[in-house]
Amino acid sequence: MSIPTRHFDALIIGAGGAGLNAALQLATADIHVAVVSKVFPTRSHTVAAQGGVNAALANVLPDNWHWHMFDTVKGSDYLGDQDAIEFMCREAIPTVYELEHAGVPFSRLDNGKIYQRPFGGQSQDFGGDQAARTCAAADRTGHAILHTLYQQNIRAKTHFFDEFFALDLVRDKEGIICGALVLEIETGEPLLIEATATLLATGGCGQIFRTTSNAHINTGDGCAMTLRAGVPLMDMEFYQFHPTGIAGKGMLITEGVRGEGGFLVNKDGERFMERYAPRAKDLASRDVVARSIVTEVKEGRGAGENGDYIYLKLEHLGADVIEKRLPGIRESSRIFAGADPVREPIPVFPTAHYQMGGIPTDRFGRVVIPAKYGAEEVISGLYAAGECACASVHGANRLGGNSLLDILVFGRLAGKDIIEYVRANPHRRETDPVSLEQAMARLTRWERKGEGVPAHQLRAEFRKCMEDHAGVFRTEEVMAEGYQKLSELRERFKDARLGDQSKVFNTARIEALELENLIDVGLAVAVSALHRKESRGAHSRPDYPKRDDVNWMKHSLYYRDGDRMDYKRVRTKPLTVESFPPAERTY
Ligand code: FUM
Repeated sequence: MSIPTRHFDALIIGAGGAGLNAALQLATADIHVAVVSKVFPTRSHTVAAQGGVNAALANVLPDNWHWHMFDTVKGSDYLGDQDAIEFMCREAIPTVYELEHAGVPFSRLDNGKIYQRPFGGQSQDFGGDQAARTCAAADRTGHAILHTLYQQNIRAKTHFFDEFFALDLVRDKEGIICGALVLEIETGEPLLIEATATLLATGGCGQIFRTTSNAHINTGDGCAMTLRAGVPLMDMEFYQFHPTGIAGKGMLITEGVRGEGGFLVNKDGERFMERYAPRAKDLASRDVVARSIVTEVKEGRGAGENGDYIYLKLEHLGADVIEKRLPGIRESSRIFAGADPVREPIPVFPTAHYQMGGIPTDRFGRVVIPAKYGAEEVISGLYAAGECACASVHGANRLGGNSLLDILVFGRLAGKDIIEYVRANPHRRETDPVSLEQAMARLTRWERKGEGVPAHQLRAEFRKCMEDHAGVFRTEEVMAEGYQKLSELRERFKDARLGDQSKVFNTARIEALELENLIDVGLAVAVSALHRKESRGAHSRPDYPKRDDVNWMKHSLYYRDGDRMDYKRVRTKPLTVESFPPAERTY
């Protein structure tokens, strides 16, 4: 098989904050680095991050990284690895200053320091008064960060492959991962990119759900590639629903609204969060607020004609504050909800937002799997960072503002580690033709002619199934039914066809390739969720309502086993608890 081939020291798949921060470390160290992105880099989903990035700068209220660490451990419902969390919270401070020096236009306080707003689950003094830890550029923080990182990469001469879709990882004859086969979307032609190290920074998988804050591009591509490479995904049952998506549509309305003083009310105008979280109220952690909203609606206190949403009120903040601090959500609310928040409340309901689990990594972004005996095994040459990765800093529930932090800290560190790896492994590896053929088969499979289910129809069915069967509350019965439907859908997918088989800019073909990834990742979520028989963080099971630290204080690892999807094959892995022993979690 003759396919055009390019060689680099490092290949990064994904151009969000994690990919670009890693690329920047590499390019400035004169490492020959390529970034592959299925969209123009500044359209990556980091651009949509609104509220900000957490760092204990103490610009507004007293703060320090120990409190940040405590809040993150508690927010994770004690499932995050505490050594990794400590590392992230300490690194947060220099990371934000580095961004500031790179040119990120943060909002400013009158004294010129970076503006910080309160966010959910933040406290002073280990669970005391509300903290203000989220560094913001109005409500367009991700936009500010992504554009700055892109500009810095252009200056550092990072090589970009814009609008190239990654088909699959490839290996050499020894089985070492040595790059990826990608598809140029414009021409529909494949390209092999060989590299000493490959970093997956492909973002989340929110498109597994019908209603999501995630962009159309968030289809779990890196996670699916990892599963196909025989590597498990960790803690996939923990999927976060952001409390305030625009009702019925899913677009994000930042937690920053509540940080600035907005609050939630039910159809009777009651501030119901006072009942669920008497101290933190609307700024309790996300899982708590999302469950409270769903409960209000289920118990008949939802607003609107169908009683299926609640209201987010911010009129009292005044037009000046809304325009200065929250201009983006004012625009989104006017366009998508037909409500101007200066005058009327925004109708909101939880929306699928963030995967806490992902490709298991250590803090250097190296992909790790449990070894047969003793310590973990590092998969040579394979890295992951950002939302697709699980460095285990979010556990069962991520705190708002820790996502931008995660991508920046671990993207940067992965970049640094790859520099060492590339220098220690100067010899080029060649792709095994068998591996290349397997990767190509993902593409050629869509050339089949004749009758078959249209791929786009399955995509809609699949996302509805995930929404109905793996949502905010999950019981054995509901999930088992969902699992059955997903298994059938996966069978039907084998016979799916494309109506249009042309090559040039065939987005239907890209979406069909994405659908295969979505199904694999959706199954990882569904199967891992069935496996965990307790309630913890975002995984809320009315049939097992309590957290069970005796039996379930451990990570889950989901393996894709060919066509078998036996959830008894989910394995577990111990976690690190160093500073804060598990305690009852109240807000
Ligand atoms: O609400 C928000 O602005 C989202 C932030 C996050 O997910 O970290």
